[in-house]
Amino acid sequence: MAIRSTRTAKTAQASELSGLDLPKMGPTGRPVTEFPDPAPLASHGPARIISLCNQKGGVGKTTTSVNVGAALAEYGRKVLAIDFDPQGALSAGLGVMTHDIPTIYDLLIGTVKDPAETIRSTSVPGLDIIPANIDLSAAEVHLVSEVARESILARVLRKVSNDYDVILIDCQPSLGLLTVNALTASHGVLIPLECEYFALRGVALLVETIDKVRDRLNPALVLDGILATMYDPRTLHSREVLERVVETFGDKVFETVIGRTVKFPDATVAGKPITQFAPEHTSAKAYKQLARELVARGAVA
Ligand SMILES: Nc1ncnc2c1ncn2[C@@H]1O[C@H](COP(=O)(O)OP(=O)(O)OP(=O)(O)O)[C@@H](O)[C@H]1O
Ligand SMILES: [Mg+2]
Repeated sequence: MAIRSTRTAKTAQASELSGLDLPKMGPTGRPVTEFPDPAPLASHGPARIISLCNQKGGVGKTTTSVNVGAALAEYGRKVLAIDFDPQGALSAGLGVMTHDIPTIYDLLIGTVKDPAETIRSTSVPGLDIIPANIDLSAAEVHLVSEVARESILARVLRKVSNDYDVILIDCQPSLGLLTVNALTASHGVLIPLECEYFALRGVALLVETIDKVRDRLNPALVLDGILATMYDPRTLHSREVLERVVETFGDKVFETVIGRTVKFPDATVAGKPITQFAPEHTSAKAYKQLARELVARGAVA
């Protein structure tokens, strides 16, 4: 503690002496960057497809899909979110009822051929969704005997890709055939990582899976970045975990960090993205910053 305050005092003194303001540092230890508002697009598509993937449960995959999807739509991007989890949390988070409607499952097994029949609009203009429900849990069994079983989702998405600027696939917490389909269909992967002990456990296996899919099925697949979620700057362990994540992944860690807040569960209950539920909340601003960072990094047009 004493060391820290001495250092702060010295830094302040140095900055006074030089007459310069030192750059403000962000939670990832890099100087804070102001990502510009994305320029409007003259035309839409073809989409860049991004999987939100981590086989660990409850790390913020769905929350990030909902909220960065909404934020990108607010910046004028045409966004399609794919619910790729039989729990249907993304559909619920965007206020879409999934009972008795065609879903992503029907597209995968071919009982519905045209994705347009499954696409629903949401309360956010520019953000559409292909929903999922518990039927999807039977998909792996069905797909296992199919020819080119890993690229069925890729073939489905090819039919809608030209209508959107970005397609976000909210994966289930597993590295099974559905997730391999998501990775095979994608240009990039975004890994949400909860700032908790053991966050990095399992990430090596995830990276290995991404490498295998790149080698065998989808040579163009890239890791777009690691998103630190549920960060609490007041706890030492949250700060330590983030430090460790940055040590391991360097620039692949997004500068944007998502703080821990009860606003997310509240927004989920309301079936709305946080950018609509509480637009002035820090977390709504954080997801808008992530949208700007994705555009600045070239992960989204
Ligand atoms: N930054 C945050 N702060 C606090 N709570 C959060 C945050 N992000 C998400 N949550 C909450 O944590 C829970 C898990 O989040 P979410 O569903 O997005 O994770 P997930 O990775 O999609 O989970 P699963 O692996 O089960 O699909 C939810 O109740 C969500 O509201
Ligand atoms: Mg989820």
